[in-house]
Amino acid sequence: MDQKAIKELVARSAVEHLVHSGMKLGLGTGSTAIPAVHYIGELMQKGELHNILAVPTSFQTVIACEQWGIPLFTLNSKEIGGELDLTIDGADEVDPYNRCTKGGGGALLVEKIVAYASKSYAIVVDETKVVEQLGLKFPIPVEVIPEARLPVQRALEALGAEVQLREAVRKAGPVITEHANLLLDIRFTSPIDPVEMEHRINQIPGVVENGLFTRKHPRVFIGHADGTVEQRD
Ligand code: 5RP
Repeated sequence: MDQKAIKELVARSAVEHLVHSGMKLGLGTGSTAIPAVHYIGELMQKGELHNILAVPTSFQTVIACEQWGIPLFTLNSKEIGGELDLTIDGADEVDPYNRCTKGGGGALLVEKIVAYASKSYAIVVDETKVVEQLGLKFPIPVEVIPEARLPVQRALEALGAEVQLREAVRKAGPVITEHANLLLDIRFTSPIDPVEMEHRINQIPGVVENGLFTRKHPRVFIGHADGTVEQRD
């Protein structure tokens, strides 16, 4: 199976195992989470799922939900009341303890808020995302208030990170997040303690959030090239 097909497979598997009518759902961002949104929309259109209330994590997710007529709310809506039954999202890396890094699509801030407001949390990935140590291969994004870019960069370097400002592709200059901030992508050349690093990065003045997700342990669905889906609790 190619990677796109694996992403589709694993997204569908998570929806089949976890999503039921009447649920308040957090819906993630990226090329693995969006097929889950499409599948939920498909099941709703077929009448196999009812009364789904969704909280999206990005404009990408809003658009996907709008295309399928999935009713959208915010965490603050009366109908949601600040708490979700389940969130399904993708990840950039997953370690053996089901700790993740996220934010390759730049949506880490709302993704983390939504994850922590959910009673249960599921991560869908293809097998290339499984690593022994977080932060050595795929960069970890840090969302930063624009005025604090350089001081935060210096503080991250002092923690041992290589730092790169994320540049936009079809716009001159940096990526501007959905909350008007910048992203500093960081990499480490030697293993880190993810729990400690998540905490230390967020202590730097000017940091809004970082892409280490260590305190909310998800059920992880891993799609393999042979067409199987592994579940790791
Ligand atoms: C977006 C994310 C994504 O979930 C993460 O980057 C994985 O994306 P993909 O499934 O496209 O590889 O955190 O901010």
